[in-house]
Amino acid sequence: MQSLAIIGSQWGDEGKGKITDLLGAKCDVVVRYQGGNNAGHTIIVGDKKIVLHLIPSGVLHSHCTSVIGHGVVFDPEAFMVEMENVSNSGINLTSENLKISSNCSIITYYNKLLDGQREAKGPVKIGTTGKGIGPTYEDKISRKGIKLRDLFDLDILTTKLEANLIEKEALFKNLYRCDYPSAQEEAKRLYELGKKIKPFATDTFSFLDQSIRENKKLLYEGAQGVLLDIDYGSYPFVTSSNTSCGGIYTGAGLPGKSISEVLGITKAYTTRVGEGPFPTELFDDVGEFIQTKGGEFGATTGRKRRCGWLDLPLLKYTVKASNLTSIALTKVDVLSGMDTLKVCYAYEYEGETIDCAYPGIDLSKVKPLYKKMKCFSDDFKSDTLSKELEDYIKEVEQFIEIPVGIIAYGPERSEIKFRKDYF
Ligand code: GDP
Ligand code: IMO
Ligand code: MG
Repeated sequence: MQSLAIIGSQWGDEGKGKITDLLGAKCDVVVRYQGGNNAGHTIIVGDKKIVLHLIPSGVLHSHCTSVIGHGVVFDPEAFMVEMENVSNSGINLTSENLKISSNCSIITYYNKLLDGQREAKGPVKIGTTGKGIGPTYEDKISRKGIKLRDLFDLDILTTKLEANLIEKEALFKNLYRCDYPSAQEEAKRLYELGKKIKPFATDTFSFLDQSIRENKKLLYEGAQGVLLDIDYGSYPFVTSSNTSCGGIYTGAGLPGKSISEVLGITKAYTTRVGEGPFPTELFDDVGEFIQTKGGEFGATTGRKRRCGWLDLPLLKYTVKASNLTSIALTKVDVLSGMDTLKVCYAYEYEGETIDCAYPGIDLSKVKPLYKKMKCFSDDFKSDTLSKELEDYIKEVEQFIEIPVGIIAYGPERSEIKFRKDYF
């Protein structure tokens, strides 16, 4: 296999960081191509915990080049903090092992302010991470965004920020009534940050093109999950990028057919942070138990994650929506030892029974139908899994018609079983 895409197949936080780190060991290049520091990807090595938000999760491997593609929305201040954290973990980032597209869209102070004000005062609360993601993608789409390369010329930056502020100023002054820095102040702040980031800024499109030509092994690290995709997700309770594998083509800039396989990272149950419908959500002790045992707190905002049973109609949908070719089933250990275990196998919706979701379905109106599964209590010390757990895996495989290639049963690198070869 020459290249693999890693995609969250639910509402994010499926364990992408752990799997990217493990498979990154076998790769030459690991690429982020969408989202921004709304992501929180956790890697545990011994007693060390590293949470990455912007920097790709291959960074722990010294032979790996990390690439931040042009589809990423980039907060220069957050990047500097993260770079320092990574350096404190003993990883030296240089222009050789970290390459950031000069064409990334910049998250300005105004974008973060707008995100926060809308969440606090707007009519619809999405439960965003507050990192300015939505407003930055809006600026990009409406063609008034700031690009990383703009940070390297104070005059250009000031002119663009002045133009960018005209409409926002009306909102800050009249609608939200909040303080905001002048375009000159913001330009100065970003320009100073730009000086520090400039050594890493480059044409990542040509670097990736060259890497593919040289038969390098590439790993594409998705952030969030397909159900948060702006087109495929549970709109409007989504993020503002294409989190499905389509985002790779636009956000990294790849020729067609250059992704060999797509690995969907799937929690053995379901979680969600923020607002929005969640058909299999558990509001009882069982949900509380999973939340506590799974340590289900957001890696970026620290919010409690909502928990529920595995939702197969949604998983079947994300398999199709993101062209998944296999999945990694993670956090199986959290379900081990429970005295009740269910999966949702269909919905009743608008008078019909359906086993696969689709874009625009109103998830707040579906009635989930459950199948009781045999409980398992594996301790994962032997090479084999219990028949009950094998049955759970088989149930998933038969339903989604692709293999479960990986079983993860703990946060550590070693707590994993490969049932399929990757690279
Ligand atoms: P990501 O955003 O998809 O990278 O996932 P997060 O890092 O936000 O959340 C996953 C959490 O589960 C992290 O705390 C991981 O250390 C942890 N984790 C990953 N895989 C497993 C697993 O198989 N079992 C358990 N118990 N924890 C896991
Ligand atoms: P990783 O990569 C889980 C959610 C937010 C909110 C919605 C919109 O760690 O899986 P945004 O700030 O993007 O405008 O918020 O998306 N969200 C995530 N949920 N994991 C993530 O990333 C997320 N990134 C955004 O909670 O509901
Ligand atoms: Mg996360």
